Amino acid sequence: MLLIFASVLFSGYEASAKVLSGDIGRLPSLGFNSWNAFGCNINEDIFLNAARVLVDEGLKDAGYTYVNIDDCWSVKSGRDNDTGRILPDYTKFPDGINGTAEKIHDMGLQIGIYSSAGEATCGGYPASLGHETVDAETFAEWGIDYLKYDNCYSENTSSQSSDNDTCKACVPDRTNQNSWVTSAPGANGTCTNSNLCSAGYDYSKSTTYSRYKAMSDALASANRSILFNMCVWGRAKPSSGWGADISSSWRITGDIYASWSRIVQIINQASFQLDSVGFGSHIDMDMLEIGNSGLSDAEVRSHMALWAGFKSPLLIGANLSNIATSDLGVLKNQYLLAFSQDKEVGEGVKPYKWGTNADWTFNETSPAEFYSGSSSNGTLVLMFNPSSEDQSKTASFSEIPELSNRDSFTAIDIWSGEDLGCVRGSYTSQTSSHDTTAILFGKAC
Ligand code: GAL
Repeated sequence: MLLIFASVLFSGYEASAKVLSGDIGRLPSLGFNSWNAFGCNINEDIFLNAARVLVDEGLKDAGYTYVNIDDCWSVKSGRDNDTGRILPDYTKFPDGINGTAEKIHDMGLQIGIYSSAGEATCGGYPASLGHETVDAETFAEWGIDYLKYDNCYSENTSSQSSDNDTCKACVPDRTNQNSWVTSAPGANGTCTNSNLCSAGYDYSKSTTYSRYKAMSDALASANRSILFNMCVWGRAKPSSGWGADISSSWRITGDIYASWSRIVQIINQASFQLDSVGFGSHIDMDMLEIGNSGLSDAEVRSHMALWAGFKSPLLIGANLSNIATSDLGVLKNQYLLAFSQDKEVGEGVKPYKWGTNADWTFNETSPAEFYSGSSSNGTLVLMFNPSSEDQSKTASFSEIPELSNRDSFTAIDIWSGEDLGCVRGSYTSQTSSHDTTAILFGKAC
């Protein structure tokens, strides 16, 4: 298979990025994944129904093309004795995974599957550590387009966790990109001093790296372009460069759930890793919870705005058969999708100031609030309100790197689509609690 390794220059930071032939993985992946809404209760119907809704509701035309099977699709008791292959559970997928793949492809969509860089998947099903070649070849033969590769049971089948030698992804020390903070970040922070790597640690020596590299190489040798997504939970600091070297996107945290506080934690973690975002190089903030109960309309807007703005994959994790029209509207927001899928600009938005807290404060309930990023259509500015009070928020052009050289710009409110005319100097908006004001600034006027 032909691999094109594009070298992308980031601000003060160079990394290679993985783009497969046909530009696969160059832009954030858009689609559906079963885990958040269905867990292990999956069968072919769920994926065919999701695919039908993607087509019928215009989500496919908006760019949502991946239909991804998560954990629990195979025969739990073990591999085929003769071939060594993982076996599809035919009670769930009567025509096998290749049969489902064919039906999904016939609808003009792509199909994803799931395995783990361990001895079992998180649900305890057969996984790929030590079986990378046969599994990659099998997935290719079945017509798979995307592999989500989880991190469970890497030591043995009796422990769900992954290896100890690797360090968790805490916030990097901004004064030294190779270093780490030396104290636990925040009340719910996952890092303690004992699992921080020492300054200058070479993460490509970690067993996490080797386990993921083995599957990346196996996919590269298989006879099909399969996008590689690493569900590595931020272990061994994939945003330091090796994530982009061997995959198109990598998870930066443990699991999302449909709770506002969890979404804010993930935004905070991600806001420190945005230098690694570019073509073929995406931080995965986990599947969307839009459409699942637990979030207000304002929270749904912020979830979408920050995930799209940071160029995370956008995988719908809800039951599409009964998703609310308002949620569908947010998922199809044309301005955010155009930003996410911009063919000319690889970087996402970045914070230009924190707001409530001093710049570069790591705070799991009150992260950075002011973000900007350029795109083919203009500069996207996001003003995020994580607080429980409504706030008046002002985008001052003099503070925004992309806008500081002119006095006035045309502007569109991307939620209402309202043309705000020619805006001079700054734009102020009342931003409800947990909402995000999102403005696309266009030409100077
Ligand atoms: C977790 C993973 C989830 C989901 C689950 C399946 O480790 O982060 O996204 O895939 O396993 O068991």
